[in-house]
Amino acid sequence: MKKPTVGQIIQKKKQGEPIVILTAYDALWASLLRDSGVEIILVGDSVGMVLLGYETTTSVTMEEMIHHAKASRRGAPEAFLIGDMPFGSYHQTPQQSVANAFRFIREAGCDAVKIEWHSRVVEMVQAMVTAGIAVMGHVGLTPQTVSQLAGYKVQGRDPGRAKEILEGAMALEKAGCFSVVLECIPEQLAAEITRKLQVPTIGIGAGSEVDGQILVTQDLLGLFNRFVPRFVKRYANLREEAVKAIQTFRQEVEEKKFPSKEHVFT
Ligand code: KIV
Repeated sequence: MKKPTVGQIIQKKKQGEPIVILTAYDALWASLLRDSGVEIILVGDSVGMVLLGYETTTSVTMEEMIHHAKASRRGAPEAFLIGDMPFGSYHQTPQQSVANAFRFIREAGCDAVKIEWHSRVVEMVQAMVTAGIAVMGHVGLTPQTVSQLAGYKVQGRDPGRAKEILEGAMALEKAGCFSVVLECIPEQLAAEITRKLQVPTIGIGAGSEVDGQILVTQDLLGLFNRFVPRFVKRYANLREEAVKAIQTFRQEVEEKKFPSKEHVFT
């Protein structure tokens, strides 16, 4: 696998080639994605809910993200790795945003960072792009500011909010984002944004008229079961498989069936 460049990712839109992105949080999962031919990996702050047991993603810290991004890089040295900037790490000043984004690139070996929409995000993106950092935007349902959005709901069904999301995506492109994630918005709005932007749109719960799709890997494998958003398609039910295997191990130990001869040294 050869790492795609930002230019090649943008080119995929022009060539109508769908972009595939999945999440990884450590070396094991990043290597699984690499072995499956996934070239672009997001170390999402969803790690907070999927692996770390937090209620929301807002609890995730820079230190945790750097730790997970470093591990993911070790598992897939050839992937285009995007580090998700956690809540609070690009909200105060452009200097703070650039300093934290540099950590993803220098310490963790990421190729780009992702930021979610907030009212001052455009100036932060401009500063990061000026500093030479590739930035992916994220609009629509933005989990870091979910309390301002009245919960995990489809965004942009009313014309006012739809206009805000469209204008947000356009402002992020203008500020220099090389791609924009559209989360949980009506398909028609996603299609309109996709037509208006020169850079690729990556949908998650945004229908099929976008330039690429992203899902949380543990969602599509049926491992994470605290809640399953409607936009998630489960391609496997690994949680059930894992529980069955672990129960069998427990029973075999309790019944003294494990270890049997082939697992014993003499
Ligand atoms: O944190 C994450 O995993 C994300 C994707 C779902 C887009 O932001």
